[in-house]
Amino acid sequence: TDFETILLDRKDRVGIVTLNRPKALNALNSQLMREVVAAVEELDADDSIGAIVITGSEKAFAAGADIKEMAPKSFAEVYAEDLFSQWDRLSSVRTPIIAAVSGYALGGGCELAMLCDFIIASDTAKFGQPEIKLGVIPGIGGSQRLTRAVGKSKAMDMVLTGRNMDAEEAERAGLVSRIVPAAELLDVALETAATIASMSLPVAIMAKEAVNRSFETTLAEGVKFERRVFHSTFATADQKEGMAAFVEKRAPQFKHA
Ligand code: HXC
Repeated sequence: TDFETILLDRKDRVGIVTLNRPKALNALNSQLMREVVAAVEELDADDSIGAIVITGSEKAFAAGADIKEMAPKSFAEVYAEDLFSQWDRLSSVRTPIIAAVSGYALGGGCELAMLCDFIIASDTAKFGQPEIKLGVIPGIGGSQRLTRAVGKSKAMDMVLTGRNMDAEEAERAGLVSRIVPAAELLDVALETAATIASMSLPVAIMAKEAVNRSFETTLAEGVKFERRVFHSTFATADQKEGMAAFVEKRAPQFKHA
């Protein structure tokens, strides 16, 4: 497929989507939204891909939804087109997705990062939900996912003042899993993705599904769901291989089956 606002690469079992509107700091316009969703769904459908990395440039992961495109729209238009609902398709993707964030991740940029399974940040990363400064509120899940990630107090602070968090604060708050020097960000993200992609793909999907269930259900139901899925791992060849490899003191050769 030909894309204009993103780059799509494959490196062994890892798919890489790079947001590529440098002149607009990767602002998320409708074309970019369509292309990111299409590229990620294409990678998700590809059995030879075991993990996906979404990244931007050193200066900006993404500086938000495209304000220039959005500004003139009427209520009737945004309501009828259900503006930004297409981004929800990323939450149905089964392959693990890492956001590798350097520079600005603001508004929709922060929300896109939070739609990924986890965030690796460079030491230059800045996260924020500045929508209120434009007279709107987050519209791609920010008020919900930021609150689940960092708790009510900090989420309210961010969403009501529109201030940015630096990488240190984001790590302390649990928004990002780790911080790495900017120059190493992509290498670390790709290495991490390659590690995930080396695991059994069906089992990695089960693990992701189990963690995500914690956001949707009670603890007792979540623990029961986990146990049922844990039991199903014993139906895979990869469970037999993984445990045999441990006993035989060798590296496992997963067949993703
Ligand atoms: C459209 C954008 C943009 C955006 C930057 N640009 N962010 N265009 N939408 N979100 C464009 C600028 O207009 C400019 O284009 C070029 O990118 C470079 O940006 P500068 O502002 O010149 O760069 P700099 O001075 O380094 O400042 C960087 C910045 C600033 C602090 C990130 O660009 C900024 O504040 N951007 C907006 C951040 C924001 O409010 N995001 C939330 C959007 S709302 P020209 O043509 O002038 O060179 C959102 C809502 C989601 O995401 C859902 C609910 C509505």
